[in-house]
Amino acid sequence: MSLKEQLDRDRIPQHVAVIMDGNGRWAAKLGKPRLEGHAAGAKAARRAVEIAHELGIKYITLYAFSIENWNRPDSEVNGLMSLLTSSIAQQFVDLIKNNVRLLTIGDNSMLPDNVRTDIENVVKKSASNTGLTVIIALSYGSRFEIVNAAKSLLKKYSQNPFDIDNLSEKDFADCLYTSQIPDPELLIRTSGEYRISNFLLWQISYSELYFTETLWPDFDEEEFCKAIYDFQHRERRFGKTSEQIKDSK
Ligand code: FPP
Repeated sequence: MSLKEQLDRDRIPQHVAVIMDGNGRWAAKLGKPRLEGHAAGAKAARRAVEIAHELGIKYITLYAFSIENWNRPDSEVNGLMSLLTSSIAQQFVDLIKNNVRLLTIGDNSMLPDNVRTDIENVVKKSASNTGLTVIIALSYGSRFEIVNAAKSLLKKYSQNPFDIDNLSEKDFADCLYTSQIPDPELLIRTSGEYRISNFLLWQISYSELYFTETLWPDFDEEEFCKAIYDFQHRERRFGKTSEQIKDSK
C-alpha cells in the first residue's frame, strides 16, 4: 500500500505551512544558475498545491520571499519577482477554475508595482472560491508583522486606555496578517536546515515541526505524504499530559 493510501483521511491537517528551502543548492548540484533552481522550486510549489488540494487540506502557506530576501543580489531578486508573478498568474488560471483561492501575507508595499497589481488581480478573481486557500508569504517577516500588530493595538488603545488590561491573545492575533486564517497544525521545512527564519512565529506556537533533508525542488507527492504520515503519528498534547489526551478520546 502506498503511503498516500495509508493516510488517515479523517486526520488531515487543516493548515500546512512550508519553508521551501534548497533551490540554490539544488541548482548548484546540477551546475545550473540559481534562478533555474527557483524555477524548479516554482514547479514543486505547484505540485504541493495540487497534492494539498487532493488530500483535502484547507490552507497551505508557502514562504516564497522573506523581508530578508530583499538583501540578495539584485539579479536574483528581480528574477524571483518575475518568476513569482508569472507562475502565480499562469498557475492560477487553472487553480481558480478548481475553486482554489489565493491570499498573500507580507509587506505588499515593498513589491514592485506590476508584481503587486498582478498578484492583487488573482487575489480578487479567486476571492469567492471556497476550496483550498493558498497563502503566499511574500516580503514577509514575522517580527515585522508582530511589531505592526503592536502599533495598531497601541493606536486603538491610546483612545481608550482603560481597556488595556482586557487585551487578549485573540485581540492580538486579530491584528496579524493571518487574522482570518487558522494556525498551522504542521510546519514543513526542506533542505536539512533546522530553523524557523522569522516565519509565522506567533502562529506556529503549537504546530508540529517537520524537517527533511530533501531539497525543495525534489519535494514530491511521496515526500508530502511522508510529512503528513509523520504528523498523524504524533501525540498533540497542547500542554496537557498524555493520559489526559487519551482519556478525552
Ligand atoms: C529558498 O531557497 C527559496 C526561496 C528564497 C524562494 C522560494 C521561491 C520559490 C520556490 C519559487 C516560487 C514560488 C511560488 C509560490 C510560485 P534558497 O535560494 O535559499 O536555496 P539555498 O538555501 O539552497 O541557497
